[in-house]
Amino acid sequence: MTVKLTPRLSAVASLVKGGGIIADIGTDHGYLPIHLVQTGRVESAIAADIGREPLKNAEKSVEHYGLTDKISLRLSDGLREFAPTDANEIVFAGMGGTLIAEKLAETPWVKNADIHFIFQPQSRAEDLREYLYRNGFEILNELATHEARRVYITFDAIYTGNVKDVAIADCFIGRLPHTEDAHKHLEGQLKRLEEKYGALTACGKETGELAHTITAIKEFLNG
Ligand SMILES: C[S@@+](CC[C@H](N)C(=O)[O-])C[C@H]1O[C@@H](n2cnc3c(N)ncnc32)[C@H](O)[C@@H]1O
Repeated sequence: MTVKLTPRLSAVASLVKGGGIIADIGTDHGYLPIHLVQTGRVESAIAADIGREPLKNAEKSVEHYGLTDKISLRLSDGLREFAPTDANEIVFAGMGGTLIAEKLAETPWVKNADIHFIFQPQSRAEDLREYLYRNGFEILNELATHEARRVYITFDAIYTGNVKDVAIADCFIGRLPHTEDAHKHLEGQLKRLEEKYGALTACGKETGELAHTITAIKEFLNG
């Protein structure tokens, strides 16, 4: 039986180029690599996690679906136990954007144009976009997908070496499409930023960049 993905993980799968080896960092249940191997989208996969328990979950699923020859399990904090040629596509889904950015920053070899990255940060996507823009990565596509009344942001990126000195507003907006889900996501961000703006102005703090970010998001939402 093929593992059917929910809309959130289907969004991740839809950005996979396929045909090679995928590493799923923070795999937990392992459904994504199992689905990609079962459907023939990738040749093989490495399902990795920092936790022994989540990795056991993935191992059980891989055994259940008879895929032990195609999917290997790896205990790893981020990409620490990986070599640059282990996979040509790398997924980080379900961790916070700040943590994903930290994991990339501690791994110099990620600056490699041959590796395709797919990200689905569960929070603070803006921190991850900021790391990517300021470190020579290009964001290629962005998707906003709702599942259980929550909107998830998914994007893919490659290293080009073109470092961009972006404004914080660009990190919030990225390459989001003008869809209902993307707008809903940005409306939530706007609310949060406006609350922060209110709190900072109340105690006389500098809010120039924040005001610019709020204006840019409003323009995007009206555009
Ligand atoms: C919310 S689950 C996401 C599972 C799956 N990727 C998904 O999107 O459905 C997050 C997983 O990331 C793992 N994780 C957290 N920090 C990690 C790190 N530094 N390196 C590898 N895995 C990590 C956790 O153990 C957990 O299994």
